[in-house]
Amino acid sequence: FNIEAFQKEILNWYQENKRALPWRETSDPYYIWISEIMLQQTKVDTVIPYFNRFIDKYPDLYSLANAPEEEVLKVWEGLGFYSRARNLHTAVREVVENYDGKVPDTKDELGKLKGVGPYTQGAILSIAFNQPEPAVDGNVMRVFSRLLLINDDIARARTKKYFEQIVAEVISKEDPSSFNQAIMDLGATICTPKSPACLICPVQEHCRAFEVGAQAELPVKTKA
Ligand code: ADE
Repeated sequence: FNIEAFQKEILNWYQENKRALPWRETSDPYYIWISEIMLQQTKVDTVIPYFNRFIDKYPDLYSLANAPEEEVLKVWEGLGFYSRARNLHTAVREVVENYDGKVPDTKDELGKLKGVGPYTQGAILSIAFNQPEPAVDGNVMRVFSRLLLINDDIARARTKKYFEQIVAEVISKEDPSSFNQAIMDLGATICTPKSPACLICPVQEHCRAFEVGAQAELPVKTKA
């Protein structure tokens, strides 16, 4: 696996093909944070109007911190998984209390905030702060399980850790923000769960699953 060639090709592809998404018009960590929480269990197309309404109502961290919880839940209504909204609201108040209203830029500090797990830490650090940190979710595991022909069960915690190690190695140190978002877009548009579009994949020549025709069998996942 040629890391440098892979980085170059995925970044070129992203440059030309990145989806125009509202949270890509900024690197403000507050906006990135909100988008990543919304995107955790909800599809991009659904999130877009909610994201726009949410930041319209709460354009900065303080406006959200000062809002009553029932109002925040009302704005969130329809997105589901309401603990996400409650945790976000709590965490934003923690940032006001403990970090002078500035979203922290270290894994340890982010990890102390309610609802901010390893995925969200990596997404904020890479996308908002351009740090070379992995942000591994199911989509990223699918893409890398195919690229590297890895058949470990992605339902296992240790498999996720393994993919985090892999992405930490492969991620562009020049442009980690674009790299992680490129993998997300590849997973959403080309390296899809069913019938991936391997024939138009920009990194086809790097893909061991394509090479042996195993893309349909990957990733391996036991439990739901
Ligand atoms: N899914 C999760 N985070 C995303 C992002 N920043 N852009 C597109 N899709 C995503």
